[in-house]
Amino acid sequence: MKTRITEMLGIQHPIVLSGMSWISVPKMVAAVSNAGGLGILATGPLDAAQTRAAIREIKSLTKKPFGTNATLLFPGAAENAQVALDEKVPVINFSLGKGDWIVKAAHAYGGKVIATVVNHKHAKRAQDYGCDGHLVTGHEAAAHGGDATTFCLIPTIASAVDIPIIAAGGVADGRGLAAAIALGADGAAMGTRLMTTRESPLHDVYKQLSIEKDVYDTLYSTRFDGLGCRVLDTKAARKAVRESLNLKKMIEALPNSVDIAKQLHLPYLKLFVGVLASGWKNARQLAFMANAFKAIRVATEYGDLSAGVLPVGQCTGLIKDNPTVSEVIERTVKEAEEVAMVLARKARIEVAAPAKAPREVKPRAAAKAKTKPRKKAAPAEG
Ligand SMILES: Cc1cc2nc3c(=O)[nH]c(=O)nc-3n(C[C@H](O)[C@H](O)[C@H](O)COP(=O)(O)O)c2cc1C
Repeated sequence: MKTRITEMLGIQHPIVLSGMSWISVPKMVAAVSNAGGLGILATGPLDAAQTRAAIREIKSLTKKPFGTNATLLFPGAAENAQVALDEKVPVINFSLGKGDWIVKAAHAYGGKVIATVVNHKHAKRAQDYGCDGHLVTGHEAAAHGGDATTFCLIPTIASAVDIPIIAAGGVADGRGLAAAIALGADGAAMGTRLMTTRESPLHDVYKQLSIEKDVYDTLYSTRFDGLGCRVLDTKAARKAVRESLNLKKMIEALPNSVDIAKQLHLPYLKLFVGVLASGWKNARQLAFMANAFKAIRVATEYGDLSAGVLPVGQCTGLIKDNPTVSEVIERTVKEAEEVAMVLARKARIEVAAPAKAPREVKPRAAAKAKTKPRKKAAPAEG
């Protein structure tokens, strides 16, 4: 299947593994890229040295194009993006910030830059400062989807920009990929679907839950990590949303932010003072993030059901098995091509239908009709 995204990124299939913290690790990224898609490394939980090591590991596992992400709002994200630029990573995906400096540096070595956006104003702005494509995340998505659903958001952004679009949020099979393309996208990113695959490091407890749960079994709230975030509906997730950032959670954020500082190898005092100096709103957001990071990590790594919370999209309800990455990619593309053929057949029926209606009077027939007196209509029977 060839689209503007496959052409631009030099990949075989228009399918992307989005950057999911603790899931989009080097082996997953390489598995997706080797299967003909584009794997994107999640750098959120990594410091600069770990990001460099992860990029080099991916390079040792695949010769195909791959990407790295950077959530610019998070501490350490700009440093990680800089490492990716130094390592000349083919595709850099950024979110929650202005990536004009990334565009400039990536274009200097021929890299491509994809901005994650959830509204057409940001999409337009990112196109104007030179981004090569967009990853557009609809409301159904795991974690931070936009306010509008994929079904409405993709056409809105496709009408606002000229650069290629990757649709994210709700795509778990070929029907979703075909629909995304029909809506104006040039490919699709799959988070939730690819998270439940054999190569995924997600703990088996949550893989099983992802298979069992339905499309209704997610919660979307700003009370988990301070931003609109979609997670799997479990007892622990309900508790986290109920408690939000109450006093107890504020206090818990302190040791959790020490963990983050350790993980990112940032001096804690510097992080703490920096966060306080950046204002109450930012400090509150980072306290939320400190708690959320911990809950997501214990879910993905340890399968913890009592304290763990897992971002999951509504398409979890479409997932019924735990195949390999290449099986997911191959069958998604095959199914999307079949859907396209079915649509073409349906469309032909639609086109054929009006042909049965009274034919248009052609000029010659019309001329005849003028010269020949019309027969009187027979009186209606009965
Ligand atoms: C476990 C998990 C962790 C995620 N972590 C991140 C992250 O660190 N940064 C980010 O931009 N998106 C993150 N996401 C969101 C995905 O990148 C992607 O936008 C989303 O999964 C797409 O929707 P879908 O799940 O319906 O396919 C995460 C998603 C999941 C399931």
